[in-house]
Amino acid sequence: MKRDLLQLNGMPKEEIDFILESTDAFKEILSRPIKKVPTLRGKTIVTLFYEASTRTRMSFELAGKRMGADISNITVSTSSVKKGESFKHTLKTIEAMDVDMVIIRHSQAGAPHLASKYIKSSIINAGDGFHEHPTQGLLDLYTIKRHKKNLEGINVAIVGDIAHSRVARSDIIGLKTMGANVTVVAPPTLLPFGIDIMGVDIKYCIDDVIEWADVLYILRVQFERQASALIPSVREYQSYYQLNSDRLKRAKKDVLVLHPGPMNVGLEITDEVATSVNAHIEEQVHNGVAVRMALLYYLLGGIN
Ligand code: NCD
Repeated sequence: MKRDLLQLNGMPKEEIDFILESTDAFKEILSRPIKKVPTLRGKTIVTLFYEASTRTRMSFELAGKRMGADISNITVSTSSVKKGESFKHTLKTIEAMDVDMVIIRHSQAGAPHLASKYIKSSIINAGDGFHEHPTQGLLDLYTIKRHKKNLEGINVAIVGDIAHSRVARSDIIGLKTMGANVTVVAPPTLLPFGIDIMGVDIKYCIDDVIEWADVLYILRVQFERQASALIPSVREYQSYYQLNSDRLKRAKKDVLVLHPGPMNVGLEITDEVATSVNAHIEEQVHNGVAVRMALLYYLLGGIN
């Protein structure tokens, strides 16, 4: 039976715990001089990205290579998609080359779910529209857990462009499953309708959560997804939502500052904060490879 990772919604706590716990072993491999094991030798993985990516795609590619899998990348802008090939036929073509797993990023929510119906290869969702980005969710849970030990009962503020953020959705779902308290902070125009049913509190200024938060998770303002201007001005956004040094001074001493990247430095976060001792943004990227190795092992490695 093939195994997919399409979303964190519906994933039981025990399954999340299992992936987070097995990540430690893969992190150890990454600290060795020769960062390679033969666990997935003979397996074939393809990344199929319909949207731009630096860290997610490279992270999957390195995760696969470090486990000995054969991995190739399809960049849609240089593929037959440009000649009009449909999503379904692109997938069928990939499947015909005996591919075990396809990792998909797409601008349409639900595209990886559809792909899973079309082909027998395992599917991982690497971000679908505004819906979910489950592997980012898992690597964020892992990073938070390493610093805060327990996810249960911790206070996490997710600040910024919630409406366009698949990262925010996966993080909220994952954090709530693990028993964390989550507050979202954003202007009303950047909050999706009905966000409250996800079990989060809502605030409209970062100052309202600055002393409460154990984790400040800052999101990028996604200008490319905004049809019209959803923030009145850059100055106003900075004054209500930017995480800067003055605000960081008022936060808990050991507050953890995270950002999924890429950052608009100077808008949602200042350079001083992003490079401060509280920020562990590069560690998120580092942990991302180990979490994805654990996940590839879980989905392809033959544990039943
Ligand atoms: C995010 C994405 O593409 O969903 N980046 C990522 O994968 N780390 C967030 C973003 O683009 O702002």
